Amino acid sequence: MALSVIDAGQLHRQAQKQVFSIEDIPFGEGVDRAKPYAPETLSQLYFTPSYSHFDDRERLLYNQVIALAICEQFIFLEEHLLIPAVENLLAARKATLSADLRHCLIDFVHEEYKHSEMFWRVLEAAEPSWYQRREPVVYKSSQLTGKALQLITRAPETFVVWIWLAVIFEERTIDLFKKYDADPDVEPLFKAVHRFHMLDEARHFRIDQHLLTEVYDKASPALRQFNVALLKRILGMFTSPTRSPWAGLDRVMAQSPRLRAYRAEFARDIAGLGRNEAFQQANYSREALPMSFQALDHYPEMAALQAIMPLYEPKPVAA
Ligand SMILES: [Fe+2]
Ligand SMILES: [Fe+2]
Repeated sequence: MALSVIDAGQLHRQAQKQVFSIEDIPFGEGVDRAKPYAPETLSQLYFTPSYSHFDDRERLLYNQVIALAICEQFIFLEEHLLIPAVENLLAARKATLSADLRHCLIDFVHEEYKHSEMFWRVLEAAEPSWYQRREPVVYKSSQLTGKALQLITRAPETFVVWIWLAVIFEERTIDLFKKYDADPDVEPLFKAVHRFHMLDEARHFRIDQHLLTEVYDKASPALRQFNVALLKRILGMFTSPTRSPWAGLDRVMAQSPRLRAYRAEFARDIAGLGRNEAFQQANYSREALPMSFQALDHYPEMAALQAIMPLYEPKPVAA
């Protein structure tokens, strides 16, 4: 068991009370294209010397592309990881999960479908010509990643790694909204979408604690070790990102070819993100992910994550 657990029945009742509909989000107001779509600190290059090579116009473009990539990334995680893993778990454990937890997981799946829909809608509002088909434009995952996730989600009690990914990414949505909320200049529709997302995700994080107890805690030590190795692989793609910073940068360079002169510096800075203290502090630190880090502290095998998340230092847990 990780953090103190809120009763599943209570979480289900909260879901019924707090439920919001897509129509509560003011999509009709459209997107103000003159504004940044995300706080500056959500881009990776902001934390590197390379950022100084952008002029104001390029910064805005880069910012907007990164904000689109963040929405695409959420859709990807929801559609290819969380929804299928939970649906398959529900099918496999129909007889053994408590009714309350089953209800919570059904809420969870419905809400993830709703999130995916709202992220598509904000993308379509921001760049209608890019998203004529509902396919990612900036954040394109590799075929291999897609296949690996299929394997994981088909056997959610063997590849229990998905629960830790849920823990960490669901808490990241809360931190992400805090950053949006603190930025008065950020585009209002993007801010609204992330606010609504956070409202559900704070509860999903609590549901994840039940999943740890019900599924991860029941895995054998050998299976846990195997999943920690997988977690290092998958989470490492986010803590040392290359694909998404390059995807954003390529879009900016396509419109500002003069930036190609700095390609070597961009490459150096992107390759260094995994050890870039400011980037790690902003995204993968105890300040950014306090509850996830506290949950990790309960599992000694998670000390291995320091290899890919250098600011994670396990803290002793009070008995
Ligand atoms: Fe979500
Ligand atoms: Fe969620």
